[in-house]
Amino acid sequence: MTNIRPFRDSDAPVMVEIFRRAVNELGSLAYGPEQVAVWASLQPTPERFAELMKDGRCCLVAVDHDDQVVAFTDVEKDGHIGFLYALPDIAGRGIVSELYDALEAEAKTQNIGKLYSEASEQAKSFLLKKGFSVVERRDFEVAGVPIHNYAVEKRLRKPS
Ligand SMILES: CC(C)(COP(=O)(O)OP(=O)(O)OC[C@H]1O[C@@H](n2cnc3c(N)ncnc32)[C@H](O)[C@@H]1OP(=O)(O)O)[C@@H](O)C(=O)NCCC(=O)NCCS
Repeated sequence: MTNIRPFRDSDAPVMVEIFRRAVNELGSLAYGPEQVAVWASLQPTPERFAELMKDGRCCLVAVDHDDQVVAFTDVEKDGHIGFLYALPDIAGRGIVSELYDALEAEAKTQNIGKLYSEASEQAKSFLLKKGFSVVERRDFEVAGVPIHNYAVEKRLRKPS
């Protein structure tokens, strides 16, 4: 059973480190070195993470026995998932699955009708297993480097 709790300010530095390691060690399994470098350059500072996670969105973290964050995700009021990142040491073990389930339950409590995101290759694989569909592949450039992700969505209730 994974322990999942809301974000606290003191989690922000660890989240930066998880972002960095997830992109470099997991992202590099599906993206090239230049793509990983530009993705890594988008890493928020701890201050920016703290600011974002308190802008009205719900941010949940999975923590270990020492209450140290090992994975995190968020949902904005309109259903947008901005972040889904796991420490490489715990990826593939079902911890992110429990974390996501808690986020979806929270989104339903908030009466959010649809979850959506722009998912990396790995996030796409993960979210498809959670009932998301791919809307389209998105090809774009970051600092002149071509990269891609996928617009994905999941309806939580029928449109009214
Ligand atoms: C997205 C993420 C949080 C999913 O968590 P997870 O615990 O790895 O989830 P899953 O076990 O379902 O794995 C998802 C995919 O990642 C890959 N993967 C996961 N663990 C892996 C590992 N240890 N080695 C190689 N590939 C791995 C697999 O391709 C897997 O897809 P599959 O099950 O269809 O083969 C995690 O992979 C991650 O942090 N990735 C890097 C950051 C990222 O892409 N974030 C999303 C930004 S949009």
